[in-house]
Amino acid sequence: MIVRALILLLLFIPAIAIFARPAAKPGVQAQTFGTHEGKPITLYTLTNSHGVEVRVMNYGGIIVSIRVPDREGRFADVILGHDTLEGYIPNPPYLGAIVGRYANRIANGTFTLEGKTYRLPKNDGPNTLHGGTTRTFDRVVWDGEALKNGVAFMYLSKEGEEGFPGNLKVKVTYTLTDANAIIIDYGATTDKATPINVSQHSYFNLAGEGNGDILNHEVMINADRFTPVDKNLIPTGELRPVKGTPLDFTRPTTIGARINDNYEQLVLGRGYDHNFVVNRKPSQNDMVLAARVHEPTSGRTLEVWTTQPGIQFYTGNFLDGSVVGKQGHAYKRRYGFCLETQHFPDSPNHPDFPTTILKTGEVFHETTVFRFSAK
Ligand code: BGC
Repeated sequence: MIVRALILLLLFIPAIAIFARPAAKPGVQAQTFGTHEGKPITLYTLTNSHGVEVRVMNYGGIIVSIRVPDREGRFADVILGHDTLEGYIPNPPYLGAIVGRYANRIANGTFTLEGKTYRLPKNDGPNTLHGGTTRTFDRVVWDGEALKNGVAFMYLSKEGEEGFPGNLKVKVTYTLTDANAIIIDYGATTDKATPINVSQHSYFNLAGEGNGDILNHEVMINADRFTPVDKNLIPTGELRPVKGTPLDFTRPTTIGARINDNYEQLVLGRGYDHNFVVNRKPSQNDMVLAARVHEPTSGRTLEVWTTQPGIQFYTGNFLDGSVVGKQGHAYKRRYGFCLETQHFPDSPNHPDFPTTILKTGEVFHETTVFRFSAK
């Protein structure tokens, strides 16, 4: 009797899990998440008509969670992060954050622009990583504004902040569509020429955050070339064909299949930590599919579309379990992967790379889409 009751209960758990979800109304809801530097931090919950739910906040423009269904309709949060605002302060792995002014690395924390040499704070050996040390996009309070299906975040990065020239006005909007897509739109203007490279640093685990490593995920990256790095993870300048290397993801391959190969680039990155050159016809300035990731046990699939020329594939090699996130989950090595659409690392020191210099009167505009499905 008891056994039968237990079996019945077990059979119904998935159903309970689905139906227990409150039928949240599609739209945007704002709630207080705390304060930082005396400013209110708001958590915005974006919900679509399928019950997909994205939570973002104006601290660091951080994506706090994304709840999407698996092939059976069971929802899970696929984003590594924290339950509270305090968890994110500090946030050494940049979990979920907008990164800038310059996402990725600038060699020796220096570049020369219009005859002037600029020096930035170094936070990654000899380099500047993700814009510096103090007032970087991931750890400042943005102004937030709820929209119909999304939220807009605005930030004025003042002249000289983290050593960069010009007052840079930045706007990032997140929109959730009924096609289970999150559209991330970046805009910026400046009053003096400055480098800019912005990206989104979410760590995904499509089996659900905290659910082990991501080595079984199957990855396709639409890139025939990548930018090899030196021992400081700075691009050498070469655009190397992926063909015949463990960085060839032109056909779907599991992350774990080759990650420990004795290939110099994987040894330097301690796994995948490389910028791929997104395949694009010369006429294509618009959005292309940059990557697709499929997790076979849940069936969840993530597609990344972008207008940006590069995508950094980072397999959480530096996570070491010291960051304890949602529900006490310790995020260990390779418990999440990032697909950071961006311009190439260290572009200000590589005149051959697509330019990252935004001039006065120009408008910076890039778009990236994270689209979810399950099969
Ligand atoms: C970089 C990694 C770095 C990580 C920090 C990534 O964008 O490629 O090398 O360790 O950010 O969280």
